[in-house]
Amino acid sequence: MHQRIRINPALFVILCASACAGTIGQGGASSSPGSSTNPFKGVNFFLNPAYTANVEATAKKHPDMADTIRKVAKNPTGLWLDSIGHVANLKPWLDDAKKQQDASGKPTLSLVIVYDLPNRDCSAASSAGELMVAQNGEARYMNEFIDPIAAEFKAHPDQPIVVVLEPDSLGNLATNMALPKCQEAKSVYKNGIVYAIKKFALPNVSVYLDAAHSGWLGWDDNRAKIAKIFKTVLNDAGGPEMIRGFALNTANFTHLSNRDGAVLEPTNPCPNELTYAKVLRKTLEMYGFKNHGFIIDTSRNGKGNIRAKWGSWCNVHGAGLGERPRAEPEPGIDAYFWVKPPGDSDGSSDPNGPRYDEMCGGPDAAKGAPQAGEWFESYFLDLVRNARPPL
Ligand code: BGC
Repeated sequence: MHQRIRINPALFVILCASACAGTIGQGGASSSPGSSTNPFKGVNFFLNPAYTANVEATAKKHPDMADTIRKVAKNPTGLWLDSIGHVANLKPWLDDAKKQQDASGKPTLSLVIVYDLPNRDCSAASSAGELMVAQNGEARYMNEFIDPIAAEFKAHPDQPIVVVLEPDSLGNLATNMALPKCQEAKSVYKNGIVYAIKKFALPNVSVYLDAAHSGWLGWDDNRAKIAKIFKTVLNDAGGPEMIRGFALNTANFTHLSNRDGAVLEPTNPCPNELTYAKVLRKTLEMYGFKNHGFIIDTSRNGKGNIRAKWGSWCNVHGAGLGERPRAEPEPGIDAYFWVKPPGDSDGSSDPNGPRYDEMCGGPDAAKGAPQAGEWFESYFLDLVRNARPPL
């Protein structure tokens, strides 16, 4: 989830998005894909027992902070499908969510991140995936990854499901075409996403396309580029109404409202995520998008002013948990959500290990980090201590 991106017209730097349709809305089922209702409203959120277990194990090891730590587990976190093998996790997650739904008597929403395109993370290293364009990746992505996911969504028709589709991918197409791994992926990213959108056009599923974050696509020219790409992809997928909206700040650290960005990159008109949501909405309207909602990942953006470079995306030192997940926190924002499970690493800080990205050993990154997706206990404890609002 990390990439080299163009952050202003003159400069290339390493940034990161990750670290860079019909819905069941309003507590009930609606019938058409990309429904105009906010799927987060009037529902409970699924609490993933595996995440709760990580939090609980950490609480047991730190009795002095245990009560505070345990509060984290009351919040929902994203369910990452990042490999073909991990698709097997989906059934137990959705079965567990159904149990929580039956117990509460209220629709219980699961948020799933679909993340396994061929040449994944094409501008960085730490989240490089298993599929390659040159090795039949496109067909495998469709048949072995998207198809079984769609089948499982279908098998849980009375539960609301939100999909965040392929973080960073279209952002990379907007700004990183100079990199051969991204160039090679151009049509495959588009085809894969179009295929997934069509397959996920189910009454209980709401799809959000990833739109990176303000420090990547906030510039006027970059917003225009991503809007054009969204338009092309959605024309091929059946129209803008095939999705519910766009996901911002996935696995990144950009604050909701601080003006950090204005200091770090004064030419960017979007100094934070709430401004980005507003300005991006206007850009998208010019390209025919209307009535779409935004999700903002607030897992780790509670504290502002933590980076020397906006482009730092890996386990940024000093970060704190952000706003608690909830529906409609601001007009036009469908939800704040902890898309990246707080405590999961963004990538290994070991320069001699596999998938090492120098961002993860850089001056803004916490050291001692395990591989992307693995539990990083000391980092989790810092997120807890630095939570804003406090737990
Ligand atoms: C990693 C995934 C992981 C996810 C959630 C991503 O950066 O590449 O493997 O599941 O973060 O922690």
